[in-house]
Amino acid sequence: METQVCSSKVVIIGTGAVGATTAYTLLLRERVSELVLIDANKERALGEALDMNHGLPFTGGMKIWAGDYSDCAGADIIVIAAGASQQPGETRLDLLKRNASIFDSIIHNIVQYNTHGIILVATNPVDILSYVSLKKSGFPSNRVIGSGTLLDSARFRYLIGEAKEINPRSIHAHIIGEHGDSELPLWSLANVAGIDVEFTAEERERIFESTKNAAYEIINAKGATSYAIALALDRIIVSILKNEASVLNVSTLLNDYNGVSDVYLGVPCIVDSTGVREVLDLELNDKELEKFQASANKLKEAIAELDL
Ligand code: LAC
Repeated sequence: METQVCSSKVVIIGTGAVGATTAYTLLLRERVSELVLIDANKERALGEALDMNHGLPFTGGMKIWAGDYSDCAGADIIVIAAGASQQPGETRLDLLKRNASIFDSIIHNIVQYNTHGIILVATNPVDILSYVSLKKSGFPSNRVIGSGTLLDSARFRYLIGEAKEINPRSIHAHIIGEHGDSELPLWSLANVAGIDVEFTAEERERIFESTKNAAYEIINAKGATSYAIALALDRIIVSILKNEASVLNVSTLLNDYNGVSDVYLGVPCIVDSTGVREVLDLELNDKELEKFQASANKLKEAIAELDL
């Protein structure tokens, strides 16, 4: 049984597929002592909280309630999963204008009650909305984190594991850049328990395309993604609450990083109780560097159109 960390409070703003599944994941794994659900649809937040409370006799002791922004006070982590989600045929970037507009009020409301917690953004386009959260909150960048390409890297590891018939937990592989269509695979670093492994050109093409397009496939099939992103958010939350210092491909503010500055992108970061403690340097080959910088430029162009 997963042990509960010492007293800890997490707030989840947005109880749609991602927010509710993340809440349920934290409940099942007994991660926190207090879990607050906030949603513009108060009835939905209340229903989610009631339904989870009724499962407490089967899990551990924690307090779960549907609250309002005043409940952000004293929270260690505030997860933002609110906003429009991709519909079939939409890219994550297509959500920007709608979701950036609601972030103004979300961040404004958070900072009325909490100026020392960590903001963890899941809403898409997550890299740009993490940057918006940084600018609007006035928090230091280490305390404003996006889920980044942690989920993409998990998909990448799963698909490599399927191809090589190896447990994905023994596969180490990175997807970096935008959590979106301009993300890129670091084949040069992919390994099995630290041992280099070869991939055919066909494997590389098939595995990366399936990784990059996974969300579209799932959205077409069931309307939204939820389980793997919830597990990715749980992974980040635990690394913070337990001060694990795990290396996770979260989205963080980059400055003078492989020629990229003033943008959020998914790269390997050390995540501990301070948030992003350190960004790990990556030696990119020419092709990887070109794609990484193109990913950064794509997001910077979109940011430039926002009124920040
Ligand atoms: C996905 C969403 C979280 O990739 O962007 O499933």
